[in-house]
Amino acid sequence: MTPGEAELVALASRLARAAGDVLRQRPDDLEVASKSSPTDAVTVMDRAAERVILEGLATARPGDAVVSEESPRREGDSGVTWFVDPLDGTVNYLYDLGQYAVSIGVAVDGEPLAGVVFDVGRSVEYAAVRGDGATCDGRPIRCSTQSKPAMALVATGFNYDRQLRASQAQAIGRLLPDVRDIRRMGSAALDLCAVAAGRVDAFFEAGMAPWDWTAGAVIAREAGARVGGLRGRPPGGHTTLAANPALFDALEELLVATGSDLG
Ligand code: IPD
Ligand code: CA
Ligand code: CA
Repeated sequence: MTPGEAELVALASRLARAAGDVLRQRPDDLEVASKSSPTDAVTVMDRAAERVILEGLATARPGDAVVSEESPRREGDSGVTWFVDPLDGTVNYLYDLGQYAVSIGVAVDGEPLAGVVFDVGRSVEYAAVRGDGATCDGRPIRCSTQSKPAMALVATGFNYDRQLRASQAQAIGRLLPDVRDIRRMGSAALDLCAVAAGRVDAFFEAGMAPWDWTAGAVIAREAGARVGGLRGRPPGGHTTLAANPALFDALEELLVATGSDLG
């Protein structure tokens, strides 16, 4: 890891933890508002956590671009772009379920370079820099070696868009008989870290935004997983899959055959 890369990860870690401290102060009134659909919520705490991160980036890295879920894009001229999800798992947070995280990814010249995902409920930090492996609280992690879809525990998520959800529901009904089981845990960033740590064998979802997956994709890749769209596409808003390389190929085929190539 170069000193420059180490500095980026240290900053991401510091800001993710500071945002986590904010999120732990969960007030009784979350001042919930809706965004793209009535169930796509934003709370006063998404914004409070975001403020801490954006202020920290503005001070430490004024020349960088920042793409953060609850704010307009900030342009930069350094070639570095930050992808920030100040609270990934807002619906879990709303219901006081512990599965939520702060996700901060860094891309250089358009290529994901580093990521930190802070699991606030468990106070556990996942981190990775391209070429350097992935860690959980500083200890190296690896994805699973399961190569058979029929034996694979597969995490997924559903989009807030009603039409896309309906397609996802149909496709999952066709997929379910051919995998070990499905998990819908409510935080795409933590799902990707679960792939990285071998706690699920794969994750796929359609309709994600770059702040959902950038940090987690670096972490999963550095733990040995392949992360990409189906049919050779890069990760993105279309169906994106993360799994060890052998399982990736087999599952990709199954996802295409069962109609999960969406978004
Ligand atoms: C959502 C979560 C969820 C995924 C959705 C995301 P949010 O992010 O990651 O697991 O299924 O697609 O939008 O709204 O909690 O930041
Ligand atoms: Ca998110
Ligand atoms: Ca969010």
